[in-house]
Formats: sequence, structure tokens, C-alpha cells
Amino acid sequence: MVNKQKYVVITGGLGYIGSHTVIELLENNYNKIIIIDNLSNSSKKILKSIKEISKKEIVFFKKDLRDKSIFNIFKKYKIDCVIHFAGLKSINESEKKFKLYFNNNVMGSLNLFQAMDKYDCRKIIFSSSANVYDQYTKAPFKESNPIRPSSKYGLTKVMIEKFLRMYSERYNKKWSVVILRYFNPIGAHCSGLLKENINKAENIIPKITKVLINKNKKFFIWGNNYETKDGTCLRDYIHVSDVAKFHLKSFKILKRKNFEILNIGTGKPHSVIDILKAFKKITKKNIPIKIGKKRPGDVAINYADVNKSKKIFKNIKYRSLTTMIKDVTNAINI
Ligand SMILES: NC(=O)c1ccc[n+]([C@@H]2O[C@H](COP(=O)([O-])OP(=O)(O)OC[C@H]3O[C@@H](n4cnc5c(N)ncnc54)[C@H](O)[C@@H]3O)[C@@H](O)[C@H]2O)c1
Repeated sequence: MVNKQKYVVITGGLGYIGSHTVIELLENNYNKIIIIDNLSNSSKKILKSIKEISKKEIVFFKKDLRDKSIFNIFKKYKIDCVIHFAGLKSINESEKKFKLYFNNNVMGSLNLFQAMDKYDCRKIIFSSSANVYDQYTKAPFKESNPIRPSSKYGLTKVMIEKFLRMYSERYNKKWSVVILRYFNPIGAHCSGLLKENINKAENIIPKITKVLINKNKKFFIWGNNYETKDGTCLRDYIHVSDVAKFHLKSFKILKRKNFEILNIGTGKPHSVIDILKAFKKITKKNIPIKIGKKRPGDVAINYADVNKSKKIFKNIKYRSLTTMIKDVTNAINI
């Protein structure tokens, strides 16, 4: 468990999933929160939104995780646990800028782990990705599936996972690590005040919303001749607030276990056409599309095997696809 009298550090806490998780923690009376974020993909406005939703104060440091000065935070505050979201997440960019991704994601994480270890804070929940799995094995993907990241971004996640395994299993048994491998977090906070930064995001939702707000003319469907119910790819979408909840649930595993890996998805995939239909039904707006060729590397079906998380957490309730899309349209005012 996590001690409510001590602080929880949230790296990348002003980002998309991080900010939703901060709200979830505050709503459950984890009131001692420190956010460390370098604002490379977020802004201080999010801090205002968090305060507006929660009516609570949090401690914020604008710092890069690679900076040695983060040691001072661990020295000054009594910190029980870290939830580690901070990282760069663009698959395309990671192919072109691997050095940057290695430095930011891997070296930043190592600096964080060293600071934690030095000041006796050894509980961590780490944001990994479904991108670590070999996409060419048959879905659903189990946590024990073969690891073969399909991008350099995924490779940085594998490296960080390996370091954390080494810390907890070989270096010091006091470490307690939970790795959460997210599938496709979408949606927004029900207040409309927190949402994904669509400028840097690459997934389907920002691409559709850009068409709806007239930033882009058409939405591209990359291939409609896959062997699926409607020819388009199937993916496992999960509401970002449900993803946030899993971090709180994972507090129970910390300390009880040295090392645990869990998939975070719903286990029920939806197609590109399902998403478009949901948007059209809610907004009553037409979304012009263009059918492109299949993209190299895309697989027809990719979704999570969620049996392990169901066994550990029990009674998991997921928000529906309609709620996910409604919350997005509410947050961007369409
Ligand atoms: N959103 C997704 O679809 C998805 C899927 C799988 C895994 N993940 C992982 O989950 C985590 C959170 O994702 P997100 O969608 O909230 O991303 P995000 O970009 O919205 O949030 C990440 C935050 O980390 C900060 N940051 C980045 N590098 C930093 C550094 N070196 N030092 C300090 N702060 C830094 C950014 O400013 C940003 O606020 C990431 O690690 C991402 O790789 C995300």
C-alpha cells in the first residue's frame, strides 16, 4: 500500500494520463502530491485545471528528469511512491530521433531511479506500452507474450522495464515495481478541463478531432481490406480515467509484490469504423474520409488479454466507447 501521510511523486503529471491520475488520487484523499514535469508536452494551465477540478493544492516542480537537481526533491520531502509517466511518446518521431528518445526516456528514468534509491523511496508504477509486444503474434496479447517492440519508442520502454526488473529482483529486494502496459487510452476528463494535447498526438482520436475542428480536411483510413468485421483495424481503446484508476488500484500490489506487469486495456477491441460511427452519432457531423493503402507494420487486430488484471483487481468497470467519445467532444466543444 501507499502511505497517505507521505508524498506521491508523479513524473509527467501535467501530461494527458498523468493529470487524470492526479485527479483520481486527490479524489481518493491522496493529498500529498508532487508533480515533476519539464512542460515539453504540457503547460502550467493544466495545473490550474487540476486545482479547479479538485479544489486542492499540489506541489509542482518544472524540472527535467535528467537533471541531477531532482535528487533534492527526494532529499527534502518524505516520498513513499513514484508514478512515472514522464517520457516522449511519438512512435514516428522516435524512429528519426532515437538519441533524443534514448536520452529523455531511458537516461531520465535512470536518474529518477538513482534519486529514489538514494533516498529510500523504492515503490514505483511505470507507464509502459503495448508497443513492447511482438505485433505479429496472435491477439489477445498476454503479459507473458514475446517482447519485440515495433518502434524505437517501444525499445525505450523495454529498456526501462528491464532496468526496473533488475532493480527489484537483483539489486535490492526492497524495490517494488508495477509495470502497466497501456493499450490505447482515449477520452477526456468529464469536466472537459483535461484532454490530450492534439498537436503532438498521433492516434486516431486527435486525427478525427482535427477534421471536426477543420484543422485537417479528411480523415485517412489506412486500409479497409483487413480480415476484420468491416475491413478496418481493430484496437483496444480504454477511457483515460479508467487508466488513471488502475494506478490507484495498483497501490495495493506495491510492497506485496516485488515485480508485476499488467496490461491496461478493456480486452474488447473496436474498429476504425466503430469510432467514426460513434463520433458521427454524437456530433451529428459528417467526417470526410479518404481510404489509403495499408501501412507497413500495421496489424489487423491488436488487443489486450486482461485476465491477469481481472484476477488481481476484480469487479473492474470500464466506461463505454460512447462515453469515451462523448467526453472528447465535450472537451473540445463540438
Ligand atoms: N497516451 C498513450 O496512448 C500512451 C500509450 C502507451 C503508453 N503511454 C505512456 O504513458 C506515459 C504518459 O503518456 P501521456 O499520453 O500522458 O503523454 P504526455 O506527453 O501527455 O505526458 C507526458 C508528460 O511528461 C513530460 N515529460 C516528458 N519528458 C520529460 C522529462 N524528461 N522530464 C520531465 N517531464 C517530462 C511532458 O511534458 C508531459 O507533460 C508516457 O510515458 C507514454 O509513453 C502513453
